[in-house]
Amino acid sequence: MQKINKICCIGAGYVGGPTMSVIANKCPDIQVTVVDINADRIAQWNTEDLDQLPIYEPGLKEIVGESRGKNLFFSTEVDKAIDEAQMIFISVNTPTKTYGKGKGQAADLKYVELCARNIAQVATTDKIVVEKSTLPVRTAQAIKSILDNSGSEVNFEILSNPEFLAEGTAIDDLLHADRVLIGGNDTPEGQAAKDALSAVYENWLPKERILQTNVWSSELSKLVANAFLAQRVSSINSISALCEKTDANIAEISRAIGFDSRIGPKFLNASVGFGGSCFQKDILNLVYIARSFGLPEVADYWEQVIIMNDYQKRRFAEQMIQTLYNTISGKKIVLLGWAFKKDTNDTRESAAIYVADALLEERAELVVYDPKVNAERIYADLDYLNTRSPEENRKLLTVATDPMEMVQDAHAVAILTEWDAFKDYDWTAIYDKMLKPAFVFDGRRILGTKQMNDIGFNYYKIGES
Ligand code: UDX
Ligand code: ADP
Repeated sequence: MQKINKICCIGAGYVGGPTMSVIANKCPDIQVTVVDINADRIAQWNTEDLDQLPIYEPGLKEIVGESRGKNLFFSTEVDKAIDEAQMIFISVNTPTKTYGKGKGQAADLKYVELCARNIAQVATTDKIVVEKSTLPVRTAQAIKSILDNSGSEVNFEILSNPEFLAEGTAIDDLLHADRVLIGGNDTPEGQAAKDALSAVYENWLPKERILQTNVWSSELSKLVANAFLAQRVSSINSISALCEKTDANIAEISRAIGFDSRIGPKFLNASVGFGGSCFQKDILNLVYIARSFGLPEVADYWEQVIIMNDYQKRRFAEQMIQTLYNTISGKKIVLLGWAFKKDTNDTRESAAIYVADALLEERAELVVYDPKVNAERIYADLDYLNTRSPEENRKLLTVATDPMEMVQDAHAVAILTEWDAFKDYDWTAIYDKMLKPAFVFDGRRILGTKQMNDIGFNYYKIGES
């Protein structure tokens, strides 16, 4: 088996950056070079001030600080890194297609294909190419075909090694992975490649947690894992709507069903809706694949998870409007949180974007605060929806830096991300500054109902009547 001592990763994003930092940190004998065509991003990864890394993840800066410049490098020299490496990870973005066939559902593979062409063009020695980005089933075949038709004598072995890290806990998930999945061909060369990658992970993970499968199972497992997780959130969210109409309590239900060891307690928190770069994209992908294989019942089944999530976001915004006497025009409403969950600066598909959009359509004056998301990102997210002009978005929404100042004369506060800091706020002081009656809409179930009512708030919590 080939011993790997040089790895290249194409794509220095949310997946590539943290994953490679951990590999470098745990495998001092392997030189890891992360490359990206985005020079700004690479400059940020190389920044001296580790608080300015392009991605915020607890524990990341310490790991980058220890390994960078030793065996971990960030560079824009893509061709050089490809040529030098024995193993190349493809970790570029695969957004949902916004044009053509499969628009709105299929994954856009243009960046992956460009990577494959790039590898084919510059490689002069045999390579193991690892798909790290989440990809539709059978992408490995497309990559293989591009690589094999490059006209060179170089041999390429393709592996699928999907990433299961969750943002906000990426480093912990990488260090203590439940499992690592390696999909590859059942040929002797395929087996050798699988073993070579397995040996990299064995530097810090027990061998029994490293599962080897065929390529297609590995690719599909990633989509299915995310679909199952998202389905749990949509399932509990659907019940939260029912609880609001009855005297049942969603927290009690989550707890009661979570005690069943077959169900388990995780991923049963009702919320304003799931977000993130993976859940929606992967389910849409699954739906698209099922439909293209002539399985409409399967496609409809999974699509319902997304429909329920959209309903939950809409329902939350409608609840706010209705409670605020059916008119929020000109009313100051404070949104706490913009990231799709706590401990990350990622806002992709965040529920906050859609709630804000619905409130802005009713001409509310929004003030947004998120401890890790900047104004540029917030405006970019709204502008991307194209519901209003960028000028209007900037007129109606301001981004605050001081959470206490911004509540002055506000009619309502909505909690859209479960940042721990929000729980510790002096809610009595906030109440004093707000217009009365003062409303809090808790989309993350992080505050105590009795405490909020005692202060004097009109308090709405997802899943409580
Ligand atoms: C997910 C998968 O967990 C991970 O394995 C995969 O590699 C990428 O996709 P991520 O999107 O980073 O990770 O975050 P995750 O913790 O799964 O949360 C996704 C969304 O669901 C968040 O918006 C979160 O707030 C929401 N959620 C999660 C709930 O609303 N309720 C829950 O009980 C759990
Ligand atoms: P993910 O969440 O999958 O990591 P990101 O969007 O955070 O996605 O990161 C993907 C990165 O891949 C981006 O920084 C982008 O510039 C980079 N990228 C895309 N195509 C290429 C390419 N052909 N060569 C090098 N880097 C690329």
